[in-house]
Amino acid sequence: MTPTSPEPGGEPTGAADAKRRTVEANGAGTSASRTVNNGAQLGRPRPLVVAHRGSSAALPEHTIGAYMRAIAEGADGLECDVRLTRDGHLVCIHDGRLNRVSNGTGRVSRHVLAELDELDFGSWHPGPAEPEPAEPEPAEPEPAATGAPVDPRTRVLTLEKLLDAAVGAGRPLQLLIETKHPTRYGAEVEDRLVAMLRWYGLNKPDDTAVRVTVMSFSELAMRRIHPLAPALDRVLLTEFVRPDRRDGRLPIGVNIAGPGVRVVKANPGLVAAWHRRGYRVFVWTVNEPREVDLMVELGVDAIITDRPRMVLDRIGP
Ligand code: G3P
Ligand code: CA
Repeated sequence: MTPTSPEPGGEPTGAADAKRRTVEANGAGTSASRTVNNGAQLGRPRPLVVAHRGSSAALPEHTIGAYMRAIAEGADGLECDVRLTRDGHLVCIHDGRLNRVSNGTGRVSRHVLAELDELDFGSWHPGPAEPEPAEPEPAEPEPAATGAPVDPRTRVLTLEKLLDAAVGAGRPLQLLIETKHPTRYGAEVEDRLVAMLRWYGLNKPDDTAVRVTVMSFSELAMRRIHPLAPALDRVLLTEFVRPDRRDGRLPIGVNIAGPGVRVVKANPGLVAAWHRRGYRVFVWTVNEPREVDLMVELGVDAIITDRPRMVLDRIGP
């Protein structure tokens, strides 16, 4: 997707102008009069809809079930966090500790994969909150090393399994992989990630298949990734934009801005500032319908959400 930079000396930019253009284009002054708000009225592609940790409002985050559901719901992309286990496996887990998302305790980085594989990453979750699309029958639970049955849909998810699922979807999918820092393993996370992407042939972008983008809150991680996989897009995630970067500047090695939705709501003009410099803007975690409308009006390039079906229904095809 190309950035939606204004023509030199052409269209005005900024939140107020974007909002005005949307209202004019809709031919109505109230959002109640429109059923779909997808940016097409403004002559630009609709934002990508990326499932944050899978379809994670409906199913436990970072489980294969949550990702399969996101694919079934029609998400354009999948987001995941990666961490290294003690024996060097990349696993999709957000927190540094196991306590919130599993029945285990302690640090992810202190466990070997076989230990994580005995844990249940699903029962903490309240279960589907939204109607489910037709899903394949679950596979029979397989015994873990302890002999206790573990539902395969809520076992620890390795990046390898997620890549297999994404490739196996058989349709174009954006895969946004976030390397989590700080970690005791430092640069090894990016090294192992790029090695795995190379093995899958995913270190070069391909819009007809799985297209990987790497993200991090760590500028150092972005600087490391750039020479390792120069063809991949890189997103710097941020919950706060430094005053010297409010003109849309991004650090070297980064080509996509990744602000939190709160940042954008507080400073909507930032989207145009990034676009003017030729950067795309991927916003997280956009879960409320009114936030979706604002992101479309501002012309962001990707909406990262726990509720991909809701966002797709809101913005249309
Ligand atoms: O997609 C970016 C977003 O995931 C960053 O925040 O804490 O959910 O990893 P977090
Ligand atoms: Ca993340």
